[in-house]
Amino acid sequence: MKTVRVHASRTYDICIERGLLQTAGPQIAAVHAPCTCMLVSDETVWSLYGETVKESLSSAGFAVHTFIIKPGESSKSTQSLVLLWETLAENKITRSDLLIALGGGVVGDLTGFAAATFLRGIAYVQIPTTLLAMVDSSVGGKTAVDLAHGKNLAGAFCQPSLVLCDPDALNTLTPDIFADGMAEVIKYGFINHPALLQKLTEDYDIADIIALCVEDKRDIVEADERDNGCRQLLNLGHTLAHGIELHSGYTISHGSAVAIGMVLITKAAIHAGLCDKDTLATLLGLLAKFNLPTQTQFTCEQLCEAALEDKKRKGGSITLVIPTKTGTSELKKYPVDDLPAFVSGAWEIL
Ligand SMILES: NC(=O)c1ccc[n+]([C@@H]2O[C@H](COP(=O)([O-])OP(=O)(O)OC[C@H]3O[C@@H](n4cnc5c(N)ncnc54)[C@H](O)[C@@H]3O)[C@@H](O)[C@H]2O)c1
Ligand SMILES: [Zn+2]
Repeated sequence: MKTVRVHASRTYDICIERGLLQTAGPQIAAVHAPCTCMLVSDETVWSLYGETVKESLSSAGFAVHTFIIKPGESSKSTQSLVLLWETLAENKITRSDLLIALGGGVVGDLTGFAAATFLRGIAYVQIPTTLLAMVDSSVGGKTAVDLAHGKNLAGAFCQPSLVLCDPDALNTLTPDIFADGMAEVIKYGFINHPALLQKLTEDYDIADIIALCVEDKRDIVEADERDNGCRQLLNLGHTLAHGIELHSGYTISHGSAVAIGMVLITKAAIHAGLCDKDTLATLLGLLAKFNLPTQTQFTCEQLCEAALEDKKRKGGSITLVIPTKTGTSELKKYPVDDLPAFVSGAWEIL
């Protein structure tokens, strides 16, 4: 088993191994004494893996309650959160009990925020079942629900006690959802990991790729848990992706939007003389390999307007993640007034 230890405000392990869904009970019992737990999942994941995980937990001595949401972003809501809080209270969950998230980023973010807030904080475990959740959302302790005014507007930093990644769970993902996660994998490569990009061009084992990405995220989270500095590197492609998702009415998936956002910011960097053209060629090649899109019908004005409304903006400036060469990116602050001129450079590069 590959284990990545995270030293943040809580120290915990991320375990990556095929078959972990079957042994979740004993794995969790090794870090948290058997207790009453609330196993949170969505209907799709529950129908595939729910009973397996529940049985493993019961055999290891946990008393298991379940809370199942409808699949999709609309469940990452204040309504689901209140219902989950009430269900925890109804089942007399105490501070020595446990929440367990079995699912993608939606289940993980909702469960994490409930754990951060119920009884002022109880422990939780992440069992991510999408590639995005394994390489990104289950690591680092950002938890949230969406508000009518925007995604992730109410949340907390709250590290899990354990993360269990079973790469076999990825076998049941649709190609589109797998590709969404691949956009984030490619992102890690362009932030600071050329060897990961090289691996993606070869025959690879997805378990190795997950481990490399988790180590990258671990390093960033350990250096900047609260997202005031280098953690912002994880926003590569995301500033413009935000506008693409918004203007599409969220019909373009997050991973697809990030793929396009990375292409646009790389092109803008090339136009500004900050990046070489080989970087773009490598990026386009990898995105094509994983059937991710590279073009948008939205205008520079539309994307900049959305970027400036995003919560990542601070005062009169915005921090962008700029690729400078294949496998290297840097944070650069721009006055908000300069953003449209910089981003419009992307439309000048073919
Ligand atoms: N906390 C963080 O740091 C962080 C980072 C990135 C993204 N996020 C959040 O993550 C969410 C997106 O996560 P996601 O892409 O995992 O979406 P998701 O949780 O909605 O899962 C996508 C779909 O895949 C299905 N699914 C999950 N696992 C499956 C499996 N093994 N087999 C078949 N189907 C499966 C789900 O039912 C769902 O329909 C967003 O809300 C985003 O804001 C959080
Ligand atoms: Zn993302």
